[in-house]
Amino acid sequence: MGENKTFSPKSIICFVFSLISTVIASSPVPQPWPLQFHSILVMNSSKGVLQIDDLWYDFPNGRNFNIIQSQLGQKLYSLEWNNGTSFYYTLDSDKACSSKQDPVGILRPNWLEGANYLGQQYKDGFLCNVWEKAEIVWYYEDVITKAPVYWYFHTGTIAHFMTFEVGRVLEDPNWQAPVYCFEESNEQNKPALEIIATWNLMRQLQSIPASLKVYL
Ligand SMILES: *[C@@H]1O[C@H](CO)[C@@H](O)[C@H](O)[C@H]1NC(C)=O
Ligand SMILES: *[C@@H]1O[C@H](CO)[C@@H](O)[C@H](O)[C@H]1NC(C)=O
Repeated sequence: MGENKTFSPKSIICFVFSLISTVIASSPVPQPWPLQFHSILVMNSSKGVLQIDDLWYDFPNGRNFNIIQSQLGQKLYSLEWNNGTSFYYTLDSDKACSSKQDPVGILRPNWLEGANYLGQQYKDGFLCNVWEKAEIVWYYEDVITKAPVYWYFHTGTIAHFMTFEVGRVLEDPNWQAPVYCFEESNEQNKPALEIIATWNLMRQLQSIPASLKVYL
């Protein structure tokens, strides 16, 4: 009988708190991105346009490249530097280029920090941990290898990771934007693509503090 007194309100509160913290601690967190990698992504835009995206992520050199081939269409080069300058261009006879200044810079390896864990789900045949960040991106990561498998953006755009080569780096000469990117007269010749807007959106994501996401 006397032993029941050990379940004081205080000890019950302690027990509940330790339970909650155990649950929180056991929620997996997304693997930070490797500092350098190459991926080939198959993307489907919200309008059903299929694209292959050659993604070269190179954080130590402060640069990120998306080379995007639309099905039977244009190949667009989207080059982002960590000093905030982005170039979008074609290398065809259009000689289209636009540049933009954006203070956010490239995605940081921990850009998914603070994402909400949603549990496990099979995607593209892989068992994945799933997170959502700011209701903008749903991120699927292979439970075993931790490789990204699939992204879904709230715009409806979908990306399937076909390769994930950790440590692979694109050689320097490929990072040089063409001369017409630096000519004033080229101002009105601008390529436009929805996928680029999606990437821009994702870059903005990392500037949203985790604690603010519930208000979005
Ligand atoms: C691409 O997405 C559209 C809907 O947005 C869908 O109808 C179509 O089947 C998708 N294509 C592929 C190859 O997944
Ligand atoms: C940022 O770096 C790139 C590549 O070195 C360069 O072309 C661009 O002019 C730089 N932008 C600024 C604002 O310094």
